[in-house]
Amino acid sequence: MLQLPPLQLPRVIGHRGAMAYAPENTLASFHEARRRGATWVEIDVKLSADGVPIVMHDASLERTMGIARLVAETPRAELPADVPTFEQAIACFRELGLGCNVEIKPCEGREAETARVAVETLRRVWPSALPSPLLSSFKDASLKAAMAAAPEFARALLIGELGEDWEARAQAVGAAGMNVGRRKLTAAAAVAIKRAGHALSVWTVNDPDEARAIVGMGADCIITDAPDVILRAIA
Ligand code: G3P
Ligand code: MG
Repeated sequence: MLQLPPLQLPRVIGHRGAMAYAPENTLASFHEARRRGATWVEIDVKLSADGVPIVMHDASLERTMGIARLVAETPRAELPADVPTFEQAIACFRELGLGCNVEIKPCEGREAETARVAVETLRRVWPSALPSPLLSSFKDASLKAAMAAAPEFARALLIGELGEDWEARAQAVGAAGMNVGRRKLTAAAAVAIKRAGHALSVWTVNDPDEARAIVGMGADCIITDAPDVILRAIA
């Protein structure tokens, strides 16, 4: 089995760029994150109808772009220009020197395909000067496909709440990290995750006091909409 180096994460990752200040998952949001001190951003990657990896959170374009159409039914050429392709996002990270937590956010039924296309893209264009990206997903099938296709990229299991089966799931996807939702995170869960040897990232934390408390529980990394606020809070 491929031995990955220990996961090196920054203390703060900008969520969808810096979505407190700029439209989420856009190049403007990545620039804003960098301006506000982030060294890494988190983005959501899914496939257009014609299989191009793009950066978009929702299954539909409605909320962020005001277009009532599903991403899975929209070819890349018909997406609004503000929706970056994954490659455009990576070019922006190269320019800004940003690391990235690539959340694989597949449209339904495209879990494995999305992961395979994402890692193929990373292999082809991820800049060697940047830290190796962290892949994450709520979908075990995506992480397993990523592990099979490109085991060299570290993986984290995304989870809203630790269920009883979290360790088995983490092991099955070869997770180096656990990316856990703040709402259900307990001190005991944080201890269990760290004891099992995982890097612990917590999302989405925008309150300075809460960020300090979570770091106090042993979290390695905070994923936040407002990287400047949280960097100041935990300095
Ligand atoms: O990766 C952390 C966070 O982005 C997971 O939830 O819904 O914002 O993609 P969501
Ligand atoms: Mg996300």
